[in-house]
Amino acid sequence: MPDDARIIGAARGEMDAEGYRVFVENAVREFVPKKKCDPKDLKGFLARLSFVQLDATGTQGWSDLKAVVRQDVVQAFYFSVGPSLFGAIAERLHTHGIAGPEARIVVEKPFGHDQASAQALNDTLAQHFAEHQIYRIDHYLGKETVQNLMALRFGNMLFEPLWNAQYVDHIQITVAETVGVEGRGSYYDRSGAMRDMVQNHLMQLLCLTAMEPPSKFEPNAVRDEKLKIIRALDPVATDDIVRGQYRGSNTVASYLEDAETDASTTESFVAMKVHISNWRWNGTPFYLRTGKRMRGRMSEIVVRFKEPPHSIFEEDTGQSANELSIRLQPNEGMDLKVTIKEPGLGGMRLIDVPLDMTFADALGEEAADAPDAYERLIMDVIRGNQTLFMRGDEVEAAWAWTDPIIAGWEDRGDRPKPYDPFSTGPEEALMLLHKDGRRWREIR
Ligand code: BG6
Repeated sequence: MPDDARIIGAARGEMDAEGYRVFVENAVREFVPKKKCDPKDLKGFLARLSFVQLDATGTQGWSDLKAVVRQDVVQAFYFSVGPSLFGAIAERLHTHGIAGPEARIVVEKPFGHDQASAQALNDTLAQHFAEHQIYRIDHYLGKETVQNLMALRFGNMLFEPLWNAQYVDHIQITVAETVGVEGRGSYYDRSGAMRDMVQNHLMQLLCLTAMEPPSKFEPNAVRDEKLKIIRALDPVATDDIVRGQYRGSNTVASYLEDAETDASTTESFVAMKVHISNWRWNGTPFYLRTGKRMRGRMSEIVVRFKEPPHSIFEEDTGQSANELSIRLQPNEGMDLKVTIKEPGLGGMRLIDVPLDMTFADALGEEAADAPDAYERLIMDVIRGNQTLFMRGDEVEAAWAWTDPIIAGWEDRGDRPKPYDPFSTGPEEALMLLHKDGRRWREIR
């Protein structure tokens, strides 16, 4: 951070600059690992903070904000508010002469509730800011291993020639969490796993895994390719999607208790089979699954290659297919399952072993100290790099694909299948792959 960087907190609540510094200091001490938190740095950081009390939808406080914001610097306005306030704030930043011509704004999910509301939000923001000034955060894009996926695909010669329907049997994307929705029940119950996780995070992972090589690693080149994937997604057949809702146990509450309503049909788990209708992926299914209260916290992309077309070895030697697994968290890294000969005199028996690369082992300190997703993304806002942010048309296209799925559930009065806490989700989710003669990777 340059020496003259400033952070100005703005909120409706009663607070002054000193109170804000104490609030931030407590948060830093609670969440920033001690070894990253040098007392001298912390003091210098806190000295850059100030606070303005203002009313987002009224007039109070805006001239105070103008008095402390400079226009001849990089300006980033982070809208940490519900989407219903985006328009009011964007407008006031202009009418009060606070935002300069190149100001950047950052907005977070939920970016709309469906295609129409996302479009309305995009239109509202577009009245005040150009697309190159709008940074829509999806924190999954800031994760180190997600960017590594692009390095892996486009920085090596090894994988890309095989990265297509001719060689890939199927792809699995899993984002499993052990947490429930406790404390966020009222937000979550209006969203469910489909809106909270699939429409954004899983779609982004799918796009980066499936997209064509962009001509350059720059914002519009990357986002154009992601958009093409979203637009090439087939509608999902009813039989190809499973919704679940976690039960309680004697140690944890059920979804219905967490959501504080006993009639909710919101899903805390989704598994689905997705087809991409394009030349590269025709015939290779992508299986996506995400859920809360699962057996483990694990986010992973698995590329399962086809078996060799002909075996020169005797039948039943145990030979199977290569599998590349990219672990986003925890234990960031990747492994490639390869087939080798079992050591010993037992003849030509084949076994599968992983070529394992855990980043923390391979890269040491550097990997362990990788910046958090938000650190990276906020730095990208300041540097003016939109590559890892969603463009308006991408968000709308993602909703256009998820809307009919959700509408189908509502029309049919679909009820999610119950599953035990700390399990792998409903039985039907296992069947989704079994019926295709495949298996999910184990959730560890
Ligand atoms: C958020 C969702 O966007 O991502 C949460 O709203 C979810 O429900 C979280 O728990 C998962 O993020 P991470 O980084 O912990 O995998």
